[in-house]
Amino acid sequence: MIQTLVTGATGTLGTALRPRLTAAGHAVRATSRSSPEETKGNLDWVELDLIKGTGIRSALENIDVVIHTATAPQGDTAAVDVQGTKRLIKAAESAGMEHFVYPSIVGIGDIPFSYYEHKAVAETAVEESDIPATIVRSTQFYSFIAELLDSVAKLPVWPLPTNVLIQPVDVGEVADIIVDHATLTASGRIDSVGGPEIRSVGELAQAYRAARDLRRPIIRFPIPGKTMTAFRSGHATCPDHRVGRVTWEEWLAERYPAPTTGM
Ligand SMILES: NC(=O)c1ccc[n+]([C@@H]2O[C@H](COP(=O)([O-])OP(=O)(O)OC[C@H]3O[C@@H](n4cnc5c(N)ncnc54)[C@H](OP(=O)(O)O)[C@@H]3O)[C@@H](O)[C@H]2O)c1
Repeated sequence: MIQTLVTGATGTLGTALRPRLTAAGHAVRATSRSSPEETKGNLDWVELDLIKGTGIRSALENIDVVIHTATAPQGDTAAVDVQGTKRLIKAAESAGMEHFVYPSIVGIGDIPFSYYEHKAVAETAVEESDIPATIVRSTQFYSFIAELLDSVAKLPVWPLPTNVLIQPVDVGEVADIIVDHATLTASGRIDSVGGPEIRSVGELAQAYRAARDLRRPIIRFPIPGKTMTAFRSGHATCPDHRVGRVTWEEWLAERYPAPTTGM
């Protein structure tokens, strides 16, 4: 049985990975800074803080494969995604790890955005380490797009960069691919994982509004700068890798089921 450590186990991807890894026969150890109440006693859980460096050694004990999903997109990305990843790699090298799996993001080399730049530095650290590695770049998860729209949905008018292009994907489909690669043999950089459709933010917002039966106007809010220019140019997409099958509309229908009408 492969002993697999998932960092960032309370996150979107980590949460999708845990049951899939268990179903695939892995013995899973999960980590984040604090263990959720429902997992207490039911799961091999180690509290680990990548900034403080606490818990790393015990988390890595008797582990074969690390899937490093911990990240801090809204926080100190240099401390967590760069320094924290380097700290984890160093400890994993000392522990004689067989395989380090690193989820990353499509287009990070072409989109000037500090989080992405830090992810790119972390990818390089993973590749340069002594541990055989697999790097899985994917596009934005549907849940992430929905969270952004949830916050805009509170406004009377939705100002959005409507012509930005993305190719979002269901996180479960990304997790399935990661689990397939979570073996004792590393695959290097695998093909990017993108959703089935390249859509503009305006189209995604319209579908979201329809799924929630809302009527607020969507207005184009141009955001100047190189980051948005790169997104508008499609650098966050991977047209040749439409791997996901679940569409945005299907995902929304699952999240916002239509109310059933009584007889
Ligand atoms: N979200 C997307 O749309 C998307 C798209 C493509 C690729 N990715 C990549 O997929 C991976 C997972 O992303 P995600 O969206 O699942 O992330 P997420 O939901 O933001 O979860 C981040 C996880 O990291 C943990 N964490 C944060 N700070 C930490 C620290 N100092 N020490 C230890 N753990 C810490 C968090 O748990 P605690 O706060 O409890 O510690 C949480 O479990 C990342 O590599 C990301 O770049 C994400």
